[in-house]
Amino acid sequence: MTCTLLTGGFGYIGSHTAAILAENNQKFVIVDNFTNCKKDVVNRLEKITKQKVNFFEVDVRDTEALVKIIKENKVTSVIHFAALKSVSDSIMRPLEYYEVNVKGTISLLKAMSYSGLKKFLFSSTAAVYGEPDSCPIDEKHKLNPLNPYAQTKIIIEKILQDISKADNEWSIAILRYFNPIGAHQSGLIGDDPLLKENSNLMPEIIKVVNGSINYLNVFGNDYETSDGTGVRDYIHIMDLSEAHVTALEYVNKNTGLNFFNIGTGKGVSVLELIKTFEKVSGFRIPIKISNRRKGDCAVCFADPKKANDILDWKSNHDLYQMCESAWKFVIKNRI
Ligand code: UD1
Repeated sequence: MTCTLLTGGFGYIGSHTAAILAENNQKFVIVDNFTNCKKDVVNRLEKITKQKVNFFEVDVRDTEALVKIIKENKVTSVIHFAALKSVSDSIMRPLEYYEVNVKGTISLLKAMSYSGLKKFLFSSTAAVYGEPDSCPIDEKHKLNPLNPYAQTKIIIEKILQDISKADNEWSIAILRYFNPIGAHQSGLIGDDPLLKENSNLMPEIIKVVNGSINYLNVFGNDYETSDGTGVRDYIHIMDLSEAHVTALEYVNKNTGLNFFNIGTGKGVSVLELIKTFEKVSGFRIPIKISNRRKGDCAVCFADPKKANDILDWKSNHDLYQMCESAWKFVIKNRI
């Protein structure tokens, strides 16, 4: 029997991946320090999975504790979600990002090495590409980190490449996520971080719905796109999470290191997303066009062919379903 350790397993992507693993009868154990998620997510995940969730409130920088957890739970693979993830916060507090993301990963990799564990999935980001030269972006596209957050992810990717070169028994998949939105079909878990100040587009739309802001700031309508607003590759959180389950199967059967872009391959503008959300919810989202946000690019969408071919994975949900599930999470939880 395999057992997967999920670090940051109660976060947005971690909790949805845990739900799918449980649905597939795959054993897992979670390590989380609860810095960016509510404790209630434990109960919610137990409701979804209809089982007690095995977890430890531990920081990934605590190597000794990780070694013990790996040993006692007979862990056979690791998915490493735990990280700080706000771009703007990383610009203000770079040291914390290097400390938690880079040092945290080194601590985890050391714990794995001490335990003879060599199967690893890493949460990376499309932010490693920065302002892309052209779209769709494949995995060979040059890296251009524009902020400390993206920089930490690239440093970890390089560390993993060195580990793989030094010991060819390691099996590593690096998943570069595009823009996850939406929620689990139960409406019990979704994107609900504790640190809400630097929000992405969908969390900002939800703030308008729940009245915590009066309108949505659309950051620029003078980009060279169909309607002038920024274009991104939004992907349903369940599709993104499913990619981890297929990547896990892949690392369990193969050795070596692979990068995978996890996106739909389809670009959607800010206005298109807002319109779809309005259609789904029947709620009007007032907008105000403001200046471009610093560090934003005009267009960013994936070429997911490598993940489609090698992992035999592809996204299944459309934009309407993404908005529908996000809306269900809002109604159910009055967030
Ligand atoms: C952002 C991060 C990226 C990170 C990703 C995680 C930046 C510059 N990039 O990507 O590194 O990996 O989140 O999900 O922060 N928008 C508005 N109004 C808002 C919020 C966003 O118009 O209030 C627009 C943005 O200008 C952009 C689009 O919506 O065109 C998507 O923005 P967002 O959800 O923040 O994601 P990214 O910027 O693509």
